[in-house]
Amino acid sequence: MRILGISCFYHDAAAALIEDGQLIAASEEERFSRKKHDSDFPRLAIRYCLETAGITVSDLDYVVFYEKPFVKFERILTTALQVVPKSWKVFGDAMTTWLLDKLWVKNLIRQELGISADRILFSEHHLSHAASTFLCSPFEEAAILTVDGVGEWATATMGRGKGTEIKLLREVRFPHSVGLLYSAFTAFLGFEVNEGEYKVMGMAPYGTPRYVDKVYKLIHLDADGSFWLNMDYFCFHHSSTQTYNRKFTDLFGEPRNPAWHFFTDSSGYPSYFEPKPSNYSELAAKNQYYADVAASIQQVTEEIVLGMVRNLHRETGLDRLCLAGGVALNSVANGRIIRETPIQEVFVQPAAGDGGGALGAALYVYHCALGKPRQFVMRHAYWGKEYAQGEIDSFARGCGTPYQTYPRTDDLLDAVVEELRAGHVVGWFQGRFEWGPRALGSRSIIADPRRTDMKEIVNVKIKFREPFRPFAPSVLAESAGRYFDLPDAPKHYPARFMLYVVNVKEGQAEVLPAITHVDGTARLQTVHKAESPLYYGLIERFGQATGVPVVLNTSFNLKGEPIVNTPANAFSTFQRSGMDTLVLGNCLIRKES
Ligand SMILES: [Fe+2]
Repeated sequence: MRILGISCFYHDAAAALIEDGQLIAASEEERFSRKKHDSDFPRLAIRYCLETAGITVSDLDYVVFYEKPFVKFERILTTALQVVPKSWKVFGDAMTTWLLDKLWVKNLIRQELGISADRILFSEHHLSHAASTFLCSPFEEAAILTVDGVGEWATATMGRGKGTEIKLLREVRFPHSVGLLYSAFTAFLGFEVNEGEYKVMGMAPYGTPRYVDKVYKLIHLDADGSFWLNMDYFCFHHSSTQTYNRKFTDLFGEPRNPAWHFFTDSSGYPSYFEPKPSNYSELAAKNQYYADVAASIQQVTEEIVLGMVRNLHRETGLDRLCLAGGVALNSVANGRIIRETPIQEVFVQPAAGDGGGALGAALYVYHCALGKPRQFVMRHAYWGKEYAQGEIDSFARGCGTPYQTYPRTDDLLDAVVEELRAGHVVGWFQGRFEWGPRALGSRSIIADPRRTDMKEIVNVKIKFREPFRPFAPSVLAESAGRYFDLPDAPKHYPARFMLYVVNVKEGQAEVLPAITHVDGTARLQTVHKAESPLYYGLIERFGQATGVPVVLNTSFNLKGEPIVNTPANAFSTFQRSGMDTLVLGNCLIRKES
């Protein structure tokens, strides 16, 4: 039985195809369309899924959409009508877009795919999230927590899964949303909503949570783990462009100017910004205030999530937890769950945000609606498109730049290790690309994490990122315990997907300065031989040569662009950046000096 799941029209459009309960292919649309966070109907991702399975639409048993458009429309309508006349604008916008596109999802799918209406099904937003994590987990029974901005009405749900049954026990409803609260601060701190949330998390360790009390004026926590927002401070319920209002800025001051560079006394002034301004100290002090605000909202978010987890544990008695929704990508909060609550094991699948809803919707229908037994566990993230060595060779021959081919894997790995040891920044393009927002060794930029200057070098050559955003380490799963404070590291699934922030062990920050964050933490990726043999082999060999089986890993893209998909995307990124070396399959290309 073949089921195609689709999510779109909000953030990240995606498609996922399962066959007899096994995942065959999954991708966000942005990888193909090259539009970051593309939310349009995922035509290209669907085509990719069908091609990978070698089937056409007529071979599909069902197509499942990840949420219920009518229920969502009802929420928008009801909310808008409650705050009329403030909301005429959002009401008008919603009417137009929903009537034009979203409400007619079923017709659209029918037209796009040429599939009959009786084979098109709809899941619910948070059920899709819940299914996307529980039904990919190795757990027979687990507590389930989903937290995001908003779906139809729910913004967070608490539930449990057993076998092929998922029960959502409680939910928090719009407009009370921890995701939208975090997004309001993301906007206030000068970043793009649904994009800059990572930046807030990265900025937080540069600040002190001095304003936690102020944040708690905006949100009230109940003893059962649920919460409500004080809507006096927000306007996302009656505005399609603004999330917070005047009362919010009376409390927190003027928002941070998005054009400002971020730096504080502790981050220093990066060389890749413009020349150091004369009022450096004044600007650093201003930024320090915003870092303190970031630390405060991050701490409150962690407390909300921890509160929900503790309650869920009390209520269900289960010590295994499946997490999903955009907030499940908050790897700092995830790290605290495993350290500070009675939860023993956590599962998060890499596309925990709305993209993952496509997969969850398909799995929900197969297992929960049709009752088919489970056999799938998501042990890796490599569900994207792959390019055969033959295709890579013909691309390399035509690219007009000399390259070297290494038919023996050992020789290729030795050559790449030499590049890394020489301090070069290497584009690493191998196999199927990753599902979800993190690069995990298929479309990665890698470098030597032992060098103090490497963070600066990667930023100067490629990323131009704000200095507060740390780079991540990829470490052999068996060696992780030597460097990172995560007992029994290989058993933790979130670490496979770079979804835990943990402390770097005493004395190891000096060994790994390029991947250690200012607060002594790191967002590690454990690499397992069975699922990532080539990447594992590379890190193992780097370890043999240097004594440190860890590489710096960041996503293979330029700032503002989606992660690369094709050899041509990779080569173009290589050419437009200061990257030294590009590895495409077994071809190695060095930049001509
Ligand atoms: Fe969601």
